[in-house]
Amino acid sequence: MNETIILAIDQGTTSTRSMTFGTDGVPRQTVRREFAQHYPQSGWVEHDPEDIWRDTVATLKEAAEADGGTVAAIGITNQRETVVVWDRKTGKPVHNAIVWQDRRTAKLCAQLKADGNEPLVRERTGLILDPYFSGTKLKWILDEVEGVRARAERGELAFGTIDSFLLWRLTGGKVHATDASNASRTLLFDIHKGAWDQDMLRMLDIPESLLPEVKDNSTNFGETTADLLGKPVPIGGMAGDQQAAVVGQACFQRGDAKSTYGTGCFVLLNTGEEAVTSKNGMLTTIAYQLDGKITYALEGSIFVAGAAVKWLRDGLGLINRAADTHDMSTKLDGNGGVYMVPAFVGLGAPHWDPDARASITGLTFAATGSHIARAALESVAYQTADLMNAMVADGARDARQIRVDGGMAANDWFCQFLADMLDTDVVRPANIETTAAGAAFLAGMAVGIWNGPDDIAATWKEDRIFTPAMTRDARSSLMEGWQDAVDRTSSRKK
Ligand code: G3P
Repeated sequence: MNETIILAIDQGTTSTRSMTFGTDGVPRQTVRREFAQHYPQSGWVEHDPEDIWRDTVATLKEAAEADGGTVAAIGITNQRETVVVWDRKTGKPVHNAIVWQDRRTAKLCAQLKADGNEPLVRERTGLILDPYFSGTKLKWILDEVEGVRARAERGELAFGTIDSFLLWRLTGGKVHATDASNASRTLLFDIHKGAWDQDMLRMLDIPESLLPEVKDNSTNFGETTADLLGKPVPIGGMAGDQQAAVVGQACFQRGDAKSTYGTGCFVLLNTGEEAVTSKNGMLTTIAYQLDGKITYALEGSIFVAGAAVKWLRDGLGLINRAADTHDMSTKLDGNGGVYMVPAFVGLGAPHWDPDARASITGLTFAATGSHIARAALESVAYQTADLMNAMVADGARDARQIRVDGGMAANDWFCQFLADMLDTDVVRPANIETTAAGAAFLAGMAVGIWNGPDDIAATWKEDRIFTPAMTRDARSSLMEGWQDAVDRTSSRKK
């Protein structure tokens, strides 16, 4: 029998994946391809949008074929904030995509801040002036790539984050749209009104004609061209990867929190209909928009999580596989005073220090490769703890538990250490690929496979709960060591 399936495209920072899901929400097939990272200057990170498109087409065809089911709908989820500008006639990008990690607009952000723009930015967009977000990257392309501003002013070009770019290509150039969650990361979107903000566009000198239409996360986004899967298939869901994980983790109640460990780590706490403003370096963001109704989240963004483990493998040659870090960490009694602050692209929340660079501190002759591997894993847990503490200081009720997902969530040692540092239960679901699942759920809702959040919550299954097992003193002493390492790494040393 030919079963009904949903296909999710998960376009991440270092790989592009297509996954199929059954109508029970269970994953079936996964096809994944890593693609090239370009570092043209220190602190700059670019992707070739054609690589992304090539891998999207290849993986979606392979996954659908391997599965053999009938694709009822496609969902797209993506690395957020990454900027593409393309020609509306030819579909050709005018420049490489500037990736969310890219720091080239640090000076511009500092200037905009010095000019007193930050309070308005925060009020309207929920964000802060940091190179992380799309707006200043878009301005850079308009100002620095020859002829682009004039072409934009003539209405010849389109801007989008990766979701929009893929949607445009998948629909054969018919649809230029994004969703509310991705729009909320651009620095151009009023998250309260749910509309592009004229003051932000003026501040960054961005022609409105470039912008996509903003839609719900689960709706009719258009159909794929027939050549891709043999017939047109509706695209029913779209969301930034972190927001898709909120859906995939079924964090639909106010107070529900999830933490996703991909390239970076992003903690999102559902705050319901209230857009909570942080006083402690968190962002206010749109978790999802369904039937025109916005649900907000507080977000803590850490730029480097899995990327630190990837660096142990590809940069240092210390490990062969990410999973090696588990045994290397387990065999040590403690961290030996060795800390890594993985500020490879500056520090995100709650420090927002774009000029900081990574460090390893506390090395003695007793330190081994295992200490460095363990320091990398520990750093991700300490950073998560910093985020949770900031959220609590912002008045979020003390989260009773946090749901984790993404690659590092497979590492038992890491999950236990995380529970110890947070002093909170860490809950791992049966499917740790919740980002793709979230996109599939959003798409499935649009074509009537699931009726709404309750149906999705019913498919969520727990794998294991990690319960805190460390004394308060041991925890405090580790957190103090971490804080000291962060202070040494800061670019704003006293
Ligand atoms: O905001 C950046 C984020 O969306 C990147 O996600 O999965 O590539 O770490 P990831």
